[in-house]
Amino acid sequence: MHRTISTETTQKVGETVKLNGWVNNRRNMGKIVFLDVRDRWGMVQVVCVPSELDETSQVSLNEVRPEFVLEVEGMVQARGEKQINPNSATGTVEVLAKRILVLSKAETPPFEIDNEERQANEELRLKYRYLDLRHERMKNNMLMRSKTLHFVRNYLHEKDFVEVQTPILSKSTPEGARDYLVPSRKFPGKFFALPQSPQQYKQMLMVAGMERYFQIAPCFRDEDARADRSPGEFYQIDMEMSFVKQDDILELAEKMFTQMIKELWPEKHFTFEPWPRLKYADVKKEYGTDKPDLRKNKDDKNELAFAWIVDFPLFTEQTEEDFFQGAGDKWAPSHHMFTAPKEEDIPLLDTDPGKARSYQHDLVLNGWEVGGGSIRIHDANLQRKIFDLIGFTEKDKESFTHLLKAFEFGVPPHGGIAPGFDRLFSILQGEKNIREVIAFPLLADAHDPLMDAPSEVKEEQLEELGIEVKKN
Ligand code: AMO
Repeated sequence: MHRTISTETTQKVGETVKLNGWVNNRRNMGKIVFLDVRDRWGMVQVVCVPSELDETSQVSLNEVRPEFVLEVEGMVQARGEKQINPNSATGTVEVLAKRILVLSKAETPPFEIDNEERQANEELRLKYRYLDLRHERMKNNMLMRSKTLHFVRNYLHEKDFVEVQTPILSKSTPEGARDYLVPSRKFPGKFFALPQSPQQYKQMLMVAGMERYFQIAPCFRDEDARADRSPGEFYQIDMEMSFVKQDDILELAEKMFTQMIKELWPEKHFTFEPWPRLKYADVKKEYGTDKPDLRKNKDDKNELAFAWIVDFPLFTEQTEEDFFQGAGDKWAPSHHMFTAPKEEDIPLLDTDPGKARSYQHDLVLNGWEVGGGSIRIHDANLQRKIFDLIGFTEKDKESFTHLLKAFEFGVPPHGGIAPGFDRLFSILQGEKNIREVIAFPLLADAHDPLMDAPSEVKEEQLEELGIEVKKN
């Protein structure tokens, strides 16, 4: 007999079915026992009357506790009018058990699965994340995440984008954060860096002639955690296009997200349609920040105030916190060092670089920066000039030889954007913390209590890598 999933039972009144799932709860009503059997799709009530069960099943029934995994065979029955539960998708039926088989037993979970009110602390939730993900809200976050990514992939494929996987073992890319480093065994003393974003690869894919690229790209940044920031890895919807103007990029992203939200979150509404394009200088002056919260009613959980911020300055004054190659000089790129200045402002690079504006665009939503991108520099000489202005040494410049070299072989004008997927998605799901939408996140202090990572490694592994660990 094929398995019937919980929600299909309503269509099978009078049929014998086989159910698989977890015991959500058990209610003893004297002789009769009610089990709510839960699967990914929902829950169905199983009625256990000892006289209907064979002997082994009766023994099984006696030991069944919450979270046991069962196989139940039984007959789907329509419930009487008074027994119908309007709050349950399967509330019109119940399954009269004929056979109960325990597939796996379960210890008492360290926190309640069917009650999120009394939620455990985050460390405990993450240590037992596989149980935490059984909570309805968490499961729903995972299912919606999958649907959303499915939408994005389909949409971009339909627009003739190519999905390319760029390397994870890569070279340090200066996006402004610290790198995660991976020591090389074959080249002792040398390190790979996990990409902070696929920025340089996607630009080289434009040189390669891919024209329209996207990737649900894993990005790694050793940053301090915040509610909207993951301390280790996160995903971007990374996009790049050739022969485009800034307008084309904004239009594509705006159309995609508008359609996505209308389809997947029909209860949401937009403060502005189309999304306003605001100048950095005006926004800073009016709101004192470059990511203003433009909602009309901040108590309305369904209001979405998207806006584009454009006309950023190419550079900002460097601060102590600026962590990228070349730190220490006067100018830091406002977005990143591959962002193109506006043509009319290029002369300012020689006279007053702080005044030069760029083709950077940020996407903000309800006061959060949910995406950033730009039109890129595609002229090697201009790129060298920017390197000089941010104080690159000859050695720093050498680390970009590959990109400048690529620009010698026919580089199309190009640009793109990378919305931060986890951040955008957590806002759409109404989650206050980005970790609620990530299956297995690191805790805010950048450790994983489930796998106990990071962890020490064997002496031999270090030996092979030529690494000695300093003991404090
Ligand atoms: P940027 O560094 O602005 O641009 O990143 C783009 C978007 O990624 C998200 N983001 C994060 N999300 C979660 N945790 C983090 N630690 C984190 N850091 C960034 C934000 C941000 O807007 N290569 C360029 C993009 C481009 O120019 O096309 C880049 O990475 O939502």
